[in-house]
Amino acid sequence: MAGLEHRRVLIGVSAGIAAYKTPDLVRRLREVGAEVRVVMTAGAMEFVKPLTFQAVSGQPVRTTLLDPDAEAGMGHIELARWAEAVLIAPASADLLARLAHGLADDLLTTLCLATDAPLMVAPAMNRLMWAHPATRANCGLLAERGVLIVGPDEGDQACGESGAGRMLEPLALVQRLGGLFAEPVLSGLRLLITAGPTREAVDPVRYISNRSSGKMGFAIASAARAAGADVTLVAGPVNLETPTGVDRVDVETAAEMHAAVMSRADTSDIFIACAAVADYRVASVPDQKIKKSAERLSLELERNPDILGDVASLTRAPFTVGFAAETENLEAHAEDKLQRKGLDMIIANLVGRPGTGFDADDNLLWVRWPTGSRSLGPAAKTVLASALVALIAERYHERFSGGDS
Ligand code: PMT
Repeated sequence: MAGLEHRRVLIGVSAGIAAYKTPDLVRRLREVGAEVRVVMTAGAMEFVKPLTFQAVSGQPVRTTLLDPDAEAGMGHIELARWAEAVLIAPASADLLARLAHGLADDLLTTLCLATDAPLMVAPAMNRLMWAHPATRANCGLLAERGVLIVGPDEGDQACGESGAGRMLEPLALVQRLGGLFAEPVLSGLRLLITAGPTREAVDPVRYISNRSSGKMGFAIASAARAAGADVTLVAGPVNLETPTGVDRVDVETAAEMHAAVMSRADTSDIFIACAAVADYRVASVPDQKIKKSAERLSLELERNPDILGDVASLTRAPFTVGFAAETENLEAHAEDKLQRKGLDMIIANLVGRPGTGFDADDNLLWVRWPTGSRSLGPAAKTVLASALVALIAERYHERFSGGDS
C-alpha cells in the first residue's frame, strides 16, 4: 500500500480479548512497508505477551512510563515524536475514558497527550459497555478533539453476546491507517462503483446468485474515498460495513443495479464495475413457491442488461473500468472484454480456486489498459485497492490531460 510505505506507525495495545488479533495487524502493516513500534498497557500484557509483539514488529516493545533505560527516561517523548500515526487496537472502555479525560497514568496515555500525530482508536468491548452513556460521552469528547474512532463492528462477541463491540479486522485497520497518508489523487472527482453479487428471484423464496462477498468493491470504494473522491457505492446483498464517507445505495437484482447505475453514470467521472452481476434472470417468476412435484424442473432464463457495456457506450461516458472474472485464459478473455466493450481499463482476476477471487481476503490481479498492463499481488484486497486507485488516477489524469487517448 503506497500510503503506508516507510510510515512510522505506533500501535498501542490495551486490555481486551481482541488483543490476540493485534500481532496480525502489526504483521500486515510491516508487509505493506510501515515501520511499527508497539506500546502495551499493563492490562494488555494479561492477554498477549510483549515477546509476541517484539517478534512481529522486530522492535523492543515498551510497557512502562518510568523506564530509566529508555532514552534517558524520556521514552514517551521520543516515541510521541517518532510516530507519524498512533493507532490503539484494541481500545478498551477504560482506555477511552482515560484518553477522554486527559489522564497520563501510563506510557500509552502519556504519549497520546505528547504527540501531534493523528490518533486513531479501534474500540473493542462488550456491546453494553459500548452502548453505555459514559462510553458514548467519552467517544463524543474524543471525536470532537479529532480522534478517529474506527469501528467497532457488529457480531458475535467473546463474552457470548452479540452486537456492536467487535474490533475491526486487521486488514480493515490497515486500510483506515493507509487512508491517513493517501495522496488526494482523486480529489474533486465523482466515482461510481458497483460491488457484491446480485440476486435473481426464482420464486418468492428462492434465488440465483453467486459467491461475491463485496470485499473487493468495498475496499476500492474505501481507498477511493481516502484518495479524495466523492464515492457512490451501489451494493448488492452483502454483509459489510459501509466505508466511512461513502454514499451507499443497496440493490438486489441486476435490473435494480442497472437502474441505480444508469441514473448516476452521466454525472460521474469514473465508473468501476466490480459487482458480480448475474448475466441471466428467470424469465417469468411465479407468484407462489414452486412445489417439488416433478422429477425435473427447467427454468427459462433471459439476459440481464449489461451494466458495464451500457455505461461504456454512453455519449459522455465516464472513465470506465471493468472487471473480468475468469477461470481460464485470463489475459486473452480480459483483452477481449477491454476491446469489445470499449473500456478504459480492465482488471482481471482468476476465480474458482481457493485463496483469491470470490469471497477471499486476498486477490491476484492483472490490469490492462489500451497502452499497457500491470500485475498486482497476490496481496490483501485492501492493499490492492489502494494500488488500483493510484493506477486508475494516473490513467484518468493522463487521459483527460491529453497525454493519452
Ligand atoms: O466480491 P468479492 O468476494 O470480493 O470478489 C471479487 C470479485 C471476484 C467478484 C471481483 O474481483 C470481480 O471479478 N468482479 C467481476 C465479476 C464478474 O461478474 O465478472 P464477469 O467477467 O462476469 O463480468 C465482466 C464485467 O461486466 C464486470 O465488470 C461485471 O461487473 C460487468 N457486468 C457483468 C454482467 C452484467 N450483466 N453487467 C455488468 O456490468
